[in-house]
Amino acid sequence: MKTFKRIMIGSMAVMVLSVFTLNLAAQPKPWVVPDNFKTMKNPVARGDASNKAGMALYTKNCASCHGKTGLGDGVKARALKESTGDFSKPAFQDQADGELFYKTKSGRGEMPKYEGKLADDDIWNIVNYMRTFKK
Ligand code: HEC
Repeated sequence: MKTFKRIMIGSMAVMVLSVFTLNLAAQPKPWVVPDNFKTMKNPVARGDASNKAGMALYTKNCASCHGKTGLGDGVKARALKESTGDFSKPAFQDQADGELFYKTKSGRGEMPKYEGKLADDDIWNIVNYMRTFKK
């Protein structure tokens, strides 16, 4: 009887745990951005010149996953396990410039890290260009 009880308790614990982890996997994981990045001032002025530079860099480096207009429909997107999100939506556009800069620079999981691959000003140009995706 004791053994039976132990088995019951054990399998219940496994069930509870797996439901818990499955649920976590379904939620987009919060991406914590350090405060100094959140409040960082974008040193590159928005405008045609920055958009032009940003568009060239974005098309070359980012569109394969994020799609030409940031909708997440790039050719590589289907092969990814993670969702790239939709850059036209408030969840993206309501973030500060510094948050987008930080995420681009540091990457996470399937999102590549661009630190050392793109100069800071180039990342700011891309951030400015990504603002044009807002609907
Ligand atoms: C290989 C595919 C891939 C490429 C290339 C790529 N990304 Fe991503 N990106 C992702 C994925 C996947 C996520 C979601 C990551 C996560 O939430 O853990 C993401 C997330 C992001 C985010 C955070 C979005 C949010 O809603 O907070 C930003 C900003 C971003 N990418 C910018 C860029 C920029 C800029 C480039 C090009 C310089 C780029 N990405 C290139 C796959 C990619």
